[in-house]
Amino acid sequence: MTIAFIGGGNMAGAIVAGLCANGTDPNTVCVSDPNRDKLDALRQTYGIRTFEVTSDWLLEADIVVLAVKPQVLKDVCEHIAAFIRPTATVLSIAAGVTSESIGRWLNHERIVRCMPNTPAMVGKGMSGLYAPDAIDARTREAIQDVMQCVGRVRWVEKEDDLHVITGGSGSGPAYVFHFLQALQEALQAQGMDLETARDVALTTVEGAAALARASAEPFEDLRAKVTSKGGTTAKAIEVFEARDCRGIVDQAVRACIARSREMAELFK
Ligand SMILES: NC(=O)c1ccc[n+]([C@@H]2O[C@H](COP(=O)([O-])OP(=O)(O)OC[C@H]3O[C@@H](n4cnc5c(N)ncnc54)[C@H](OP(=O)(O)O)[C@@H]3O)[C@@H](O)[C@H]2O)c1
Repeated sequence: MTIAFIGGGNMAGAIVAGLCANGTDPNTVCVSDPNRDKLDALRQTYGIRTFEVTSDWLLEADIVVLAVKPQVLKDVCEHIAAFIRPTATVLSIAAGVTSESIGRWLNHERIVRCMPNTPAMVGKGMSGLYAPDAIDARTREAIQDVMQCVGRVRWVEKEDDLHVITGGSGSGPAYVFHFLQALQEALQAQGMDLETARDVALTTVEGAAALARASAEPFEDLRAKVTSKGGTTAKAIEVFEARDCRGIVDQAVRACIARSREMAELFK
């Protein structure tokens, strides 16, 4: 199976790294990007095939990954349309651009969409995937295998649900960085040096996430277990609740999803 990436930037680089780390033959991985330096780096690191211009070579690809910015996707699609085999599956990782638009620009039916996130760059991504009913189980499996090279995968039933994935894992890393910053600053305000505060904040979030992952218990129960009545943690949680922390997160997720839907309208 040959997989071709149109665009060799951050996200494509992460997926290529994941594929190669998982034993994919580098000869079956192609990347096209106008930037020669990016291509040289990818070729030298992974031994994959690289191209500055998309042309006949793309006809070989069984999976074509669209990994350019949404703003340029229409032009890119119109340029590459003639070089995609009708049996190939197109996997778009571009945020917000619908499969209907991509299908129209490419004059192609087999479109799958993916919403990845930046932790894919360290193999800890969370990707939402959507495929229309016409995409068979074997193709879904092949696409899932690609994205599982950079983390976990969840299929959504309706394309619109990818906006919800955006509100969760797509933008979620920024929510967590925001919390890390707040915890680090609060510790510094108590006299802790920056390096220690960063380490304490980060190790706490990593540890809590690892503990929650290892447990089948609901988050709420895990939280209650470390919150003895009248104790120190209870005092902190009282403050979070008085300020309606959950309500704030709910509003933030809603705002993110609303913006995702608005932006999707721009790229039709
Ligand atoms: N990063 C994320 O967290 C994230 C999350 C979810 C989804 N995504 C989606 O992933 C896609 C890629 O994001 P990214 O962060 O990897 O962007 P990126 O680093 O800017 O990579 C895009 C690459 O495509 C190249 N390119 C432009 N026109 C091209 C063409 N005609 N043919 C081939 N390559 C072309 C760009 O070159 P130039 O730089 O020279 O223009 C750039 O190297 C976006 O659509 C984004 O919405 C990203």
